[in-house]
Amino acid sequence: MHPLRIGIIGVGNISGIYIKNLTSFRSTTISAVADIDLSRAEAVAGQIEGAEALTPEGLLASANVDLVLNLTIPNAHGPVAIAAAKAGKHVYNEKPLSIRLEDAEALLAEAKKAGTLVGGAPDTFLGGGIQTCRALIEEGAIGEPIAANAFMLCRGHEGWHPNPDFYYAVGGGPMLDMGPYYITALVNLIGGIRRVSGSTRITFPTRTITSKPKHGQTINVETPTHISGTMDFDNGAIGHITTSFDVFANDMPNIVIYGSAGSLIVPDPNGFGGEPLIKRAGEQEFRPVPLTHGFSENARGVGVLDMAYAIRGNKKPRASGELAHHVLEVMHAFEKSSTLEKHIHLTTHTEKPEAMAPDTYADELD
Ligand SMILES: NC(=O)c1ccc[n+]([C@@H]2O[C@H](COP(=O)([O-])OP(=O)(O)OC[C@H]3O[C@@H](n4cnc5c(N)ncnc54)[C@H](O)[C@@H]3O)[C@@H](O)[C@H]2O)c1
Repeated sequence: MHPLRIGIIGVGNISGIYIKNLTSFRSTTISAVADIDLSRAEAVAGQIEGAEALTPEGLLASANVDLVLNLTIPNAHGPVAIAAAKAGKHVYNEKPLSIRLEDAEALLAEAKKAGTLVGGAPDTFLGGGIQTCRALIEEGAIGEPIAANAFMLCRGHEGWHPNPDFYYAVGGGPMLDMGPYYITALVNLIGGIRRVSGSTRITFPTRTITSKPKHGQTINVETPTHISGTMDFDNGAIGHITTSFDVFANDMPNIVIYGSAGSLIVPDPNGFGGEPLIKRAGEQEFRPVPLTHGFSENARGVGVLDMAYAIRGNKKPRASGELAHHVLEVMHAFEKSSTLEKHIHLTTHTEKPEAMAPDTYADELD
């Protein structure tokens, strides 16, 4: 079987780890790279054996590309992916799937028409940390999941990011930036979400950049920077999430799942490994649980590898477009609920993606 030939559009910061991993898996290869900055594509292609540098249009037209890996900026995720589906390519987007729900819907419709698959980041939930937690829940270690809390609290990115404006523009904010990791992990651990409510605020209407090179410049904040919401899961569990760029100090865990017979502290969903902590009824303290599943190093791209298997086996990828679309609707629904002052019933539905087998490592995903 030939490896899946991947063409990357957008070779910025995050592309390095994808290139490292996708050139090391046996079932994937990188055949082309493109960027609106062609010189950047040329520099990257020079470091990948067998890859050519193309314009984005040239990459979409190339007969040597099966799947487009879309690593452009969030605002371009939708348009680039829709063009890829229209060109008859499979496509995998970095998160969020798009910043506009309409783009996500158009993307899935175009791919359906073309008979191609859509996938989307994050794929951290396929790592050993979250998969070990999932196995614990499914073997009944904490009983029936009844509730969850999730927290992503920080003071924003203008102190270190060289170009932080987009975090405070429409389509930015802590929910669309970091929510995909948390909500995708929660859906993987508990299941789909049917109803959402939220309250949001802009605490600081302007931000002063303290990083270089824009030190001293002011950003006008256009999007909520503190978002709290509740999620009613299909199975009756009730989740809470707060994402914030407004908080100076915080000692909350990333995610806790509360079951009828115990509680589980889940490792950071923005990583692949970590250490789950469990406390079951009758136990005095939380105790660490060793990881039972593979991909606990930085395995970014394992979702693309899983797509190679899905394409080959004619089945649904785990980090699917359908899942990413559901997560996107949930994230938008918090602000919608806050504005309309009512619960939002979701129109998208999803099931937990298929669990990974224990002790699975590269190229053994079936
Ligand atoms: N950097 C990280 O640590 C990180 C982590 C997780 C996820 N992500 C996600 O990965 C994506 C890329 O992030 P990044 O940090 O690599 O950004 P980046 O700005 O470093 O790179 C983006 C690249 O895309 C190119 N580009 C932009 N619009 C384009 C278009 N329409 N067509 C072709 N090329 C285009 C840019 O020229 C640039 O080279 C974002 O969606 C981000 O949310 C980044």
